[in-house]
Parts: sequence; C-alpha cells; structure tokens
Amino acid sequence: MYDNKSLHKERGSAKCFVCILASFVILCALLLVLVSITRVREPRVKIRSATSNQITHNASSSSPSFNATIIIFISIDNPNFDVFAYENCSVSVLYAGVKIGDRPINGDKVSIRKTKEINVTVDLRSGGDQVPVTANFSGDMNSGRLNLTSYAKFTGTVRFFKIMNVKKSIQMACAMKLNFTSHVLQNIQCQ
Ligand SMILES: *[C@@H]1O[C@H](CO)[C@@H](O)[C@H](O)[C@H]1NC(C)=O
Ligand SMILES: *[C@@H]1O[C@H](CO)[C@@H](O)[C@H](O)[C@H]1NC(C)=O
Ligand SMILES: *[C@@H]1O[C@H](CO)[C@@H](O)[C@H](O)[C@H]1NC(C)=O
Ligand SMILES: *[C@@H]1O[C@H](CO)[C@@H](O)[C@H](O)[C@H]1NC(C)=O
Ligand SMILES: *[C@@H]1O[C@H](CO)[C@@H](O)[C@H](O)[C@H]1NC(C)=O
Ligand SMILES: *[C@@H]1O[C@H](CO)[C@@H](O)[C@H](O)[C@H]1NC(C)=O
Ligand SMILES: *[C@@H]1O[C@H](CO)[C@@H](O)[C@H](O)[C@H]1NC(C)=O
Repeated sequence: MYDNKSLHKERGSAKCFVCILASFVILCALLLVLVSITRVREPRVKIRSATSNQITHNASSSSPSFNATIIIFISIDNPNFDVFAYENCSVSVLYAGVKIGDRPINGDKVSIRKTKEINVTVDLRSGGDQVPVTANFSGDMNSGRLNLTSYAKFTGTVRFFKIMNVKKSIQMACAMKLNFTSHVLQNIQCQ
C-alpha cells in the first residue's frame, strides 16, 4: 500500500516534468520562429540623383578653384516591421579624397517598411590649398567633369517588438561625376 502510493507520486512528478519540458521546448520553438520572421534587417541608404543649380569655376593653372551648390536626393529604405530612427549626422562630399563640403542632416524616423526621401543642399568650395598636389585639378576642370564621392553614416535603432532597441549603423558611399555643362551629377554608383 505504502509502496504503491509513492510509486503514484513518482509517476505524477515524472508526468509533470515531461509537461514542463514539452512546454519549454514548444515555447523555444515559437520564439525561434518569431525571431526568424521578424529579424532585424539592414536599412539601405543611397543617392537617387543629384543636380547642381550653380557652378563657377576657374581652371587657371596658377590657382584653380571651383564653387558649386549641389542638391543630393537621398533615399533611406527601411525593410523592417519596426520603425528605424536615426540620429543627427552629416553628408560630406570629397574630391580626390579631400572634403570640399558637408551638410548636417537632422535625425528622423523611417516608418515601417517605408522609404524616406530627403534632399540635402551642399555647398562645395575648393581653393588651391585644399586640393592634394597629386590631383590633376585644373586638368579635371578643363575636361568639364569632376569625379566626386559622397559619404554619410547613419546611426540609429530599430525598435524590435517594442521590447528592445537594436542598434543599426548604415553607410552611404557613392561615386559620381559633376558635369559642368549639364549641371547634373552623372554615373552615380553607390556601394
Ligand atoms: C569661390 O568662392 C570663394 C569664396 O566665396 C571666392 O573667393 C572664389 O573666388 C570663388 N571661386 C570661383 C571660381 O568663383
Ligand atoms: C582665374 O584666376 C586667375 C588667377 O587668380 C585670374 O587672374 C583670372 O582672372 C580668373 N579668371 C576668371 C574667369 O575668373
Ligand atoms: C540634432 O539637431 C537638432 C537641430 O540641429 C538639434 O536641435 C538637436 O539637439 C540635435 N540632437 C542631438 C541629439 O544632438
Ligand atoms: C527631392 O528632389 C527630387 C528631385 O528634384 C524630387 O523628385 C523629390 O520630390 C524631392 N523630395 C523631397 C522630399 O523634397
Ligand atoms: C590632367 O587632365 C587632363 C584632362 O583630363 C589630361 O589631358 C591630362 O593628361 C592630365 N594630366 C595628368 C598629369 O594626369
Ligand atoms: C555633360 O553632359 C552633356 C549632356 O548630358 C554631355 O553631352 C557631355 O558629354 C557631358 N560632359 C562630359 C565631360 O561628360
Ligand atoms: C573618374 O572615375 C572614373 C571611373 O568612374 C575613372 O575611370 C577616371 O579615371 C576618373 N577620372 C579622374 C580624373 O580621376
């Protein structure tokens, strides 16, 4: 009688243990499925197009210089099912590896699975002193096209299920050619 009771008890606790284990395994599997469905994807940023409304240049070989104002049309694509919020940052434009202009971008949000478009106006100033001696500055200007690169780094967070913030850092690095006659930035290639 006594032995039988304890056997019952043992069986009961073993059943309970199996139940808890099974629930735990099912819970883990559900969580795994949930995470794989909604895993945080990388937002993408690129330059759609760019134009210049003003270019002045002096290609005199003694002190070549050029000034321009360009408008860069940037798109930030958020493929996530959560909002991507980025902090203040800046976009810079370089010629021959030297920064000739930059402009701050205010932090903002990109809605769920949306693309945000912003236009950034950057003033470019280049005197002779800034340009490295290795660059063929006056020659490039005489050719009517300048090879430029544009760079920006967006740091922000994707809110994951409203329970945690996943930090995401995305970079924009694009090469393009400023055409002095058409005032258009051609051959835009982003990494
Ligand atoms: C560019 O702007 C600077 C300062 O505003 C000026 O000194 C320079 O002459 C300008 N260069 C050209 C080619 O317009
Ligand atoms: C270009 O710069 C040179 C030297 O600074 C100057 O003598 C010349 O007048 C300038 N040309 C133009 C078109 O501004
Ligand atoms: C971002 O820039 C805006 C406008 O320039 C400024 O008011 C704000 O304080 C900045 N935020 C941070 C976190 O620096
Ligand atoms: C940015 O500029 C492009 C081209 O000029 C235009 O199509 C677009 O509507 C502009 N977007 C914003 C948000 O101003
Ligand atoms: C400078 O650029 C011009 C025009 O693109 C070209 O004709 C010339 O050969 C270049 N000079 C050097 C030293 O690269
Ligand atoms: C600048 O653009 C015009 C019009 O698109 C084109 O005819 C010209 O060849 C371009 N210039 C250079 C140096 O590529
Ligand atoms: C500009 O970039 C192109 C490649 O996109 C390259 O072939 C060319 O040599 C570059 N020109 C100058 C002057 O650096």
